[in-house]
Amino acid sequence: MITIQGLKKSFGPLEVINNVDLEIAAGKVVVIIGPSGSGKSTLLRCLNVLETPNGGSISIDGQQLDFNQPVSKKAIGAFRRLTGMVFQSYNLFPHLTAKGNVTEGLTTVKGVSKKEAGETAEQLLAKVGLADHKEKYPHQLSGGQEQRVAIARALAMDPKVMLFDEPTSALDPELVNEVLRVMKDLAQEGMTMAVVTHEMRFAREVADEVIFIDGGVIVERGAPAQIFTNPQHERTKKFLSLLQ
Ligand SMILES: Nc1ncnc2c1ncn2[C@@H]1O[C@H](COP(=O)(O)OP(=O)(O)OP(=O)(O)O)[C@@H](O)[C@H]1O
Ligand SMILES: [Mg+2]
Repeated sequence: MITIQGLKKSFGPLEVINNVDLEIAAGKVVVIIGPSGSGKSTLLRCLNVLETPNGGSISIDGQQLDFNQPVSKKAIGAFRRLTGMVFQSYNLFPHLTAKGNVTEGLTTVKGVSKKEAGETAEQLLAKVGLADHKEKYPHQLSGGQEQRVAIARALAMDPKVMLFDEPTSALDPELVNEVLRVMKDLAQEGMTMAVVTHEMRFAREVADEVIFIDGGVIVERGAPAQIFTNPQHERTKKFLSLLQ
């Protein structure tokens, strides 16, 4: 579903993603872990082209962008719609209700009728457990509820792949599980997902593969049981020991 080849991203002289190759098969969940500054967010941001890589290629669902040659804005726009992204901060529109936030992209980007967009939004809000909160504004919702609206909003665009960048890091501990629950359900439904998270329990339970990144390279990858109980590389061992 996702094939990354020779991906490179620098900020000035700083090489942040250094020749990364990665494949994620359809329906699989990959959890990306690694120290602060190792390039996790940049990798996800390259996947939906919020950052333009300096080289390499990314293919999602059979569509490829080759960054070794100039890539048009139009191609980037179309490619970006293959992925839905959920960030640590929810970035909901404060002046729109939960339902309004979910319908917005459908009517403005996808050109769906208001009625149809409303029906889709209601279904998706029910799916993330917010059927009773659809008319609330972001300031009337808890962080966990806001993040679930953000997930519904991303799903509304019907992405092939969902990307999560520390989706629970800004939440009070008691609100973390309701968001992880929704992500787990999505995984079980067969959504292809790349998730940056510090929630190792989620990684153990849900990930098909865990990838440890340091210094912009994939140091080690494997099944969660393998990475967590029998890491092969010193850097992985050191990173995991700091989490205990
Ligand atoms: N827009 C930018 N301009 C310049 N440097 C950047 C930019 N974005 C990221 N960087 C740098 O790239 C490196 C990787 O950043 P990135 O945000 O990908 O790390 P991360 O693994 O997500 O870290 P964290 O766990 O703290 O979120 C860091 O050194 C960061 O300072
Ligand atoms: Mg980050």
